[in-house]
Amino acid sequence: MSLLEVRDLEVAFHTADGTVRAVDRVSFTIDGGQTLAVVGESGSGKSVTALTLLGLNRGAEVAGTVLFDGVDLLAMDDEAMRAVRGNQIAMVFQDPLSSLHPLYRVGWQIEEAILAHRDVPRQQARARAVELLDLVGIPEPARRVDDYPHQFSGGMRQRAMIAMALALDPRLLIADEPTTALDATVQAQILDLIRRLQGELGTALIIITHDLGIVADLADDVIVMYAGRVVERADRRTLYYHPHHPYTVGLLRSVPGSVARAARLQPIPGQPPSLIRLPSGCRFHPHCEFVMDRCVDHDPPELRVLGGLHHGSACWLPGEMVGTDDDTHRRRSAYAGAHRQTLVGSGSTAVP
Ligand SMILES: Nc1ncnc2c1ncn2[C@@H]1O[C@H](COP(=O)(O)OP(=O)(O)OP(=O)(O)O)[C@@H](O)[C@H]1O
Ligand SMILES: [Mg+2]
Repeated sequence: MSLLEVRDLEVAFHTADGTVRAVDRVSFTIDGGQTLAVVGESGSGKSVTALTLLGLNRGAEVAGTVLFDGVDLLAMDDEAMRAVRGNQIAMVFQDPLSSLHPLYRVGWQIEEAILAHRDVPRQQARARAVELLDLVGIPEPARRVDDYPHQFSGGMRQRAMIAMALALDPRLLIADEPTTALDATVQAQILDLIRRLQGELGTALIIITHDLGIVADLADDVIVMYAGRVVERADRRTLYYHPHHPYTVGLLRSVPGSVARAARLQPIPGQPPSLIRLPSGCRFHPHCEFVMDRCVDHDPPELRVLGGLHHGSACWLPGEMVGTDDDTHRRRSAYAGAHRQTLVGSGSTAVP
């Protein structure tokens, strides 16, 4: 049994402008100690997915199943969810300042996180806080435990957040863009730290990111999200070297030089679709250079890509057309050209 199994998760927000379908039939699994990267550009539904797992999306309409150790988190009441959150599943948010209270000492906040779930004397919680700060590489932890958040640098605050998240030995850590607010050097240190701790503690990790470099270093498996949907999933190597979905291919080809030298994820030109009024058929079709007739009318289900056991792609192109090389690119174009005869009906004006 997987540690976490998410099946057909749907999250919708009812707003004055209409219903925002932020997450649409998203499924994935993660085993104990494994790392899953969730990649996608801004607004693709990454954070909403993560927050929903933890029952933190108030006011959203949620459907699907989220089995953690076989128990459905979505069916839990608030009290049961609170017992899981922080304890079994912990989250590191993008902005550490939004999670550390400015008016309380760092150590005290970690102690509180422990005392919320464990019936131990404060002294013991404090000793654990010092130990955790040491673990995440805060120098002189016995002294710094009494600092206020503003006395910590950005990188130290992020380390403190990780310490707090690990305080109760969670089995799953969700890190939502844990390093975007940090400069490159500190970013690399934090990622090293996450990787080291994960190795030592055996925590499963979901890392949410725009940064393909992070994926290359950390992930076992990757899911690529676009407009609330998973458009491609594969193990890390397959995703890098044999991507299938034109969106993933575009992301990787937009990185100059070799795909291994991955850099920041470049958005594909053009606005992602409004999640209130989605395009017909495949939601990527107005931006896809390989658009075919059927893409306009028929939303592709996730199909297994040839050769990859766990490689799935929500695209109508033949399963053997994988890779970022120019030859494959030409074959995709030729195939798409031959299946683009009519293009009547919906407004596929972006077709090149
Ligand atoms: N409470 C809410 N009410 C209405 N719409 C929301 C709400 N929360 C999120 N959304 C919408 O859901 C979509 C997905 O948002 P989400 O925060 O998951 O994106 P993301 O992939 O995490 O992006 P980023 O990389 O910028 O963090 C966005 O269009 C967002 O505006
Ligand atoms: Mg987000």
